Amino acid sequence: MTRCFIIGHPVAHSRSPIIHGHWLAEHGLDGSYERVDVPPGAVAAFLDRIRSGEFAGGNVTVPNKEAVLPLLDHVGETARRMGAVNTIWVEDGKLHGDNTDAFGFLAHLDDRVPGWDARTASALILGAGGAARAVVHGLVSRGVGRIILVNRSMARAEDLAAEFGAGVEARGRAEAAALVATSDLIVNTTSLGMQGQPPLDLDLAGLRPGTIVDDIVYVPLETALLAEARARGGVPVDGLGMLLHQAIPGFERWFGVRPEVTPALRARLEADIPLR
Ligand code: ATR
Repeated sequence: MTRCFIIGHPVAHSRSPIIHGHWLAEHGLDGSYERVDVPPGAVAAFLDRIRSGEFAGGNVTVPNKEAVLPLLDHVGETARRMGAVNTIWVEDGKLHGDNTDAFGFLAHLDDRVPGWDARTASALILGAGGAARAVVHGLVSRGVGRIILVNRSMARAEDLAAEFGAGVEARGRAEAAALVATSDLIVNTTSLGMQGQPPLDLDLAGLRPGTIVDDIVYVPLETALLAEARARGGVPVDGLGMLLHQAIPGFERWFGVRPEVTPALRARLEADIPLR
């Protein structure tokens, strides 16, 4: 049997086992995908368990995504840019890692709004953490020419913008409402709006109809940001799809089958998450 894992601390909340369990059953594969609680100091010891053949690979979540990177034999270009690994697999006896968050973000956007990139000249990104880095990386890779970062900590937004260079810039929070009116795509990468967190404080009064509003928060499924965007004629894109799509490359590496994000899989996850 091919065994895979998600390591994190805590890890009990992770929905990834539902996704991979669904695909294993759908494809009739003899495999498992297990939650393993790995505190920060125990990452190297856990990697030895993969090297010894116990696991074929797996996912890495908070707080281990950065710590695991220097411990692998080979790290993909995207993960190096992100400074974080979320997917590990064994190839030719070596431990490989990469980051599939940008892929997941783009794949879901492609799915929900085909051709979005052809009509996205300017994007407004709220947040400047790890998720923002993945989103900016994805947008740059698809040729979005102007990307503006707005974050509570302006210095953090400036640092992230500097990593990417021309085309990515940081602006103060006071400018956010005006930027809403000039952006083709708006993405919330902060945790604001998530169940138990304060709401995202963004004035959408100037939103132009047709503007794509993407929230990577997926609990609840329809955040207040998405509900307001919809009411104002925007095109809402929820966060659940990013979670589902980022899982595809890992499953293919471990089990040799490229899985699909189907309505049945989505329904399975939705059953577990409040709508509002
Ligand atoms: P992730 O890897 O999920 O992006 P992160 O790196 O901790 O997590 O980033 C969290 C993001 O949410 C940051 O942009 C953070 O703003 P700061 O950089 O100013 O900390 C933002 N965020 C979290 N809580 C917030 C709050 N209460 N108000 C405003 N922004 C918040």
